[in-house]
Amino acid sequence: MSITWKPEYDLGIKEIDKQHEELIEIINHLNNSLHSLKSGEGIYEIFSELERFSNYHQKFEEDYFKKFNYEYAEEHIKEHRLFLEYLSNLKSDALIHNNLHLAFKLLDFLEDWLITHEQGSDKKYVECFKKNGL
Ligand SMILES: [Fe+2]
Ligand SMILES: [Fe+2]
Repeated sequence: MSITWKPEYDLGIKEIDKQHEELIEIINHLNNSLHSLKSGEGIYEIFSELERFSNYHQKFEEDYFKKFNYEYAEEHIKEHRLFLEYLSNLKSDALIHNNLHLAFKLLDFLEDWLITHEQGSDKKYVECFKKNGL
């Protein structure tokens, strides 16, 4: 089932909301191509999209942490790194395991990340970012 953007997803910081929406698009891309992933090629395309997105998005947030001296930067960055690590492990697994199984695992992981991180941990920096003029 596709995920659609909901008002409660909004952090109220335009550029970041736009990026989070991009992640939803990637999740939907994965969701919509689940049954065609058996061939194996599709999942690599999604991993590349995710890597490109995550590197860009994490750096974007982390640059502001530095600039605004964000109090909880360290634990937030740790979550970002764990995310990348998990992705990279899953990608290696994709080389040896059934891709459809992997695709479901990835989907679960991303949906969870959307709630616990993008709507959870990210919400905590909003006050700091806004106070600093974003
Ligand atoms: Fe984020
Ligand atoms: Fe984040």
